[in-house]
Amino acid sequence: MMKQIATESIAMTRPYSEATLEQLLRSRRSVRGFTNQAIDSATLEQIFTEAQLSPSNCNTQPWQTYVASGNSCNQLRQGLVEQIMAGTPPKAEFDYFSKFSGEHRTRQVECAEALYGAMGIPREDKRGRMGALVRNYQFFDAPHVAFICMNKEYDIVNSLDIGVYLQTLMLVMEAHGVASCAQGALAYFPPLVKEVMGIPEQEGILVGISFGYEDPDVAANNARTSRAPLAQCVQFKN
Ligand SMILES: Cc1cc2nc3c(=O)[nH]c(=O)nc-3n(C[C@H](O)[C@H](O)[C@H](O)COP(=O)(O)O)c2cc1C
Repeated sequence: MMKQIATESIAMTRPYSEATLEQLLRSRRSVRGFTNQAIDSATLEQIFTEAQLSPSNCNTQPWQTYVASGNSCNQLRQGLVEQIMAGTPPKAEFDYFSKFSGEHRTRQVECAEALYGAMGIPREDKRGRMGALVRNYQFFDAPHVAFICMNKEYDIVNSLDIGVYLQTLMLVMEAHGVASCAQGALAYFPPLVKEVMGIPEQEGILVGISFGYEDPDVAANNARTSRAPLAQCVQFKN
């Protein structure tokens, strides 16, 4: 039988960041430029062990996570860039709804402007924008990338668990001083990823995440996003 993860033993052994949850929530942001310094394997294992504490519907823990480092990470980086440069049509295994409207569209545009602005890419610069897209498939030079999968028969409600897990993972990384960028873009070319990572056919890639140590000299890392005022998103009623 596989060893279960006991929450108490994790709490006892961690050499954890002393940051409060609020500090972690405020300091975490998407990083799109990494140094080539790999995370040591003990920290890597600890990060993913702690992320296992994420809650899920009926405790099903429906995430299957595949972490690529070293050769596999470089092989995927090269292969995915080749695919995008060759104009391979994207074919995600789950629907990605991206036709936003109203304030969601406004926020989407603001987010793109923040990133392209930081990178010095004007709106009409199609080549520059393509270059920024390709950076996704270079994993922003990160030494690690993880693909988070779910059974292909599962649907939107089960993907809630994956979203919760993703946020847990990002905050745990932040607590360990590890920067990350969640990437829907990494779900678009599954065959190569599944072959290199040995992902079974019945699992679908929902999202990827590049991670490592931030390179502060990368212009894209100057991008900052904001959040809507509370009243736009939360209604209180007595
Ligand atoms: C599910 C998900 C998918 C995302 N996909 C991408 C992506 O493909 N490429 C990218 O550069 N950023 C991606 N992001 C990062 C978002 O753009 C970012 O979280 C958002 O703009 C808020 O900025 P912040 O993370 O810096 O707070 C994704 C984030 C999430 C949660």
